[in-house]
Amino acid sequence: MDVLLVIPRALWLMVPMLLPNSAAVLFGGGTAIDFGGCMKDGRRILGDGKTWRGLFGGTLAGISVGLLQGIMAGELLNAPDWTWGEFWPSLFILFLLAFGSMLGDLLGSFVKRRAGRERGAKFPVLDQYDFFIGAMILILPLQFPWFRDNFLEGEYIIGLVGLLVLIPLLHRAVNIIGYKMGKKDVPW
Ligand code: CTP
Ligand code: MG
Repeated sequence: MDVLLVIPRALWLMVPMLLPNSAAVLFGGGTAIDFGGCMKDGRRILGDGKTWRGLFGGTLAGISVGLLQGIMAGELLNAPDWTWGEFWPSLFILFLLAFGSMLGDLLGSFVKRRAGRERGAKFPVLDQYDFFIGAMILILPLQFPWFRDNFLEGEYIIGLVGLLVLIPLLHRAVNIIGYKMGKKDVPW
């Protein structure tokens, strides 16, 4: 593949991982995942920023957009390299990317609460990479061959490095937009 395309391709294949957190901001609200529960340290398990609606909405949004992308790239543009493969295996990968991303976000909030940070408080690195870590926690043990073939092998590793560099920038940009739209209380 043209080396100029490996970074856009990596971003494209990771949209189902990148999108769920922003979708959760739009769909979120209502009952908290921890039902208001606290740990022994007296702090919330996850906090009011993590809701069931956000979790389901975010996961479904990631999977749905991934399916649309698959149809666009595979059927309309005839570019199988820009898809996740056959329908059922690809649905599984999309689930791992989208749900893993939301799981990482929960894990991030869990760590933040244990560190005594209130909801919405800054926590550099974790805030930017928690969803990537969560997706990797599911993808690496369950779909390693897919990850290796698409993000580690040959020039594709450049795509992975590009993705890792762009994640904090995208995160920042999206959060500023969310803040300006009045969907987020803080611009990070
Ligand atoms: N959100 C949600 N459910 C989720 C994830 C996010 O409802 N599972 C919504 C919440 O409204 C949340 C917003 O998306 O406030 C932004 O998400 P995030 O920045 O991850 O949460 P914070 O409020 O900053 O809380 P935390 O300190 O736990 O990250
Ligand atoms: Mg936050």
